[in-house]
Amino acid sequence: MNSSEIRKNFLDYFNKRGHAVVPSSSLIPDDPSVLLTTAGMQQFKKYYTGEADALKDFCSKSTASIQKSFRTSDIDEVGDESHLTFFEMLGNFSFGGYFKREAITYAHEFITKVMQLPISYVTVFEGSATVPKDEESRAIWQELGIVDIREEGMDDVFWGPTGTSGPCGPTAEIYCKNASGKDIEVWNIVFNQFMCSGSREELLSGNATLSPLDIFGIDTGMGLERLAMISQSTKTIFETDLFSPLMDLLPQSMDVRTKRIIADHARGTAFLLSEGVQPSNKERGYVLRRLLRRIIVHEYLAHETPFPLENILSAAVREYRGFYPELNEQTVLKEFATEKEKFLKTLKNGLKELQKLENLTPQNAFKLYESYGLPFEIIKEIGGDRAASLSRASFDEEFKKHQEISRAGLEKKFGGHGLLLDTGELKAKDEQELKIVTRLHTATHLLQQALRTVLGEAVSQKGSDITVERTRFDFSFDRKLMPEEIQEVEQVINDIIQKDLPVQKVELPIDEAKKTGALYFFSAKGGSASGGKEKYPDHVNIYFVGNSLEEAFSKEFCGGPHVTRTGEIGKVKIAKEEAVAAGIRRIRAVVE
Ligand code: SER
Repeated sequence: MNSSEIRKNFLDYFNKRGHAVVPSSSLIPDDPSVLLTTAGMQQFKKYYTGEADALKDFCSKSTASIQKSFRTSDIDEVGDESHLTFFEMLGNFSFGGYFKREAITYAHEFITKVMQLPISYVTVFEGSATVPKDEESRAIWQELGIVDIREEGMDDVFWGPTGTSGPCGPTAEIYCKNASGKDIEVWNIVFNQFMCSGSREELLSGNATLSPLDIFGIDTGMGLERLAMISQSTKTIFETDLFSPLMDLLPQSMDVRTKRIIADHARGTAFLLSEGVQPSNKERGYVLRRLLRRIIVHEYLAHETPFPLENILSAAVREYRGFYPELNEQTVLKEFATEKEKFLKTLKNGLKELQKLENLTPQNAFKLYESYGLPFEIIKEIGGDRAASLSRASFDEEFKKHQEISRAGLEKKFGGHGLLLDTGELKAKDEQELKIVTRLHTATHLLQQALRTVLGEAVSQKGSDITVERTRFDFSFDRKLMPEEIQEVEQVINDIIQKDLPVQKVELPIDEAKKTGALYFFSAKGGSASGGKEKYPDHVNIYFVGNSLEEAFSKEFCGGPHVTRTGEIGKVKIAKEEAVAAGIRRIRAVVE
């Protein structure tokens, strides 16, 4: 079945079964705790938590969509037979409507009857200390005649949460064989049963708690490219009709891995640029620039068998425009040309420097990246044996270290909106604003500690955003604060301000720093070089309020800036307290 037919059949199948068909949401999510949209469920998060009502918004408790998705965590895997950065995810969702039986039965019928594909095996959750084994799903698969049912654990068949907290639950997966006989996971069916108080990492390390959701939900995801591979009996996704028009434009003689990387990155680039992302050195812009530079280097290195990248980008737009009218060829080509011109100037020198190095370390690799813009992948690829011990994690660590340094040094931000300071958490456009956000920043540390003093240690930071008007602080707590509690929190903060305590900084190796009991929080979108899990640098700064670290009122890992004494803050007032998600509260506070 060609990919257009698959898309149509999928949406028709679920529409006929009462699902409202919802268009893909943007690749740039509403949820500030995630960089890019990675799954179909993201736009529906609020229907699972109960903050919004699906019946009201879609006239149905169930929906189906084909979602543009982008996974930065898979960048290093691209080049094999089934990994991609950008992909399309087919999904059906239920918010308090049907649950396990219908979800499994629909998936089974769609794969075996509509697609007419044999299922190789399925998985169910084996159970953990907190969540029981999924006997119900096993029984349903058995009734449907599936013989090979495998049990898997938390790592494989437990979804979520996305971002810093959210709905999650056990899953069941469907595997089918591709043309080389390999089992490929095609469909992930999530049974959303819990609200998780922390991130996925926190959940896996036992630092987050699960509470049952009021509304049980279904969230399924099936990669269109993988399904096309199975249906079209190809050995890789790059031979399906979704990729062959792009692959055919690349030179015959080119290494096949490189071809796949170019096809994937060109497609991803076309989508990101069409959504208005611009290449830069942070967050989404950084991801985009990595893709762009990697393909530009390949184009440059392939001068003996030239292939114009512009043609590949245009082909990507052409192939997808019918389904995604937002794709804009003119924007894509214009932005591409600008980045290429900029990058080519330094690329040659960078490659020369790289060739001179006998051994590639995280430090000199980062230097090549910083001075010449050479992407990690290129250093690794061209470095060959000399880069054998260079890992993405060690490079990311180096990247992070430099980011901390530039934050603390209040480096001027170039281009963009002309901010004097933008650490991701604090924003100020001139010296005067900088003074105010600095006061608000120290006030935010006092606020977190005061909340812990008044409400207990369950309070932990979930996010923070400081502008010249206010600080906005998100934290874990499961109910609305009472007026007396808000008053008490203000009182605790203002007492500390009255005492005019010094605000001091120490730099410590990470292990020692953790032992001091200082609080730490790194947001999921904090700009790690791989977009994945954040790594701490070897040394971190702790800011503490008080005469000594031991007796400090507040201590936190932090890049600054802060006032030198609490008296400079002025009076702190809590302006608003509200819920942002189940188990997460938000406070807005101002300084007077
Ligand atoms: N959220 C799940 C996934 O992305 C199912 O849609 O795999």
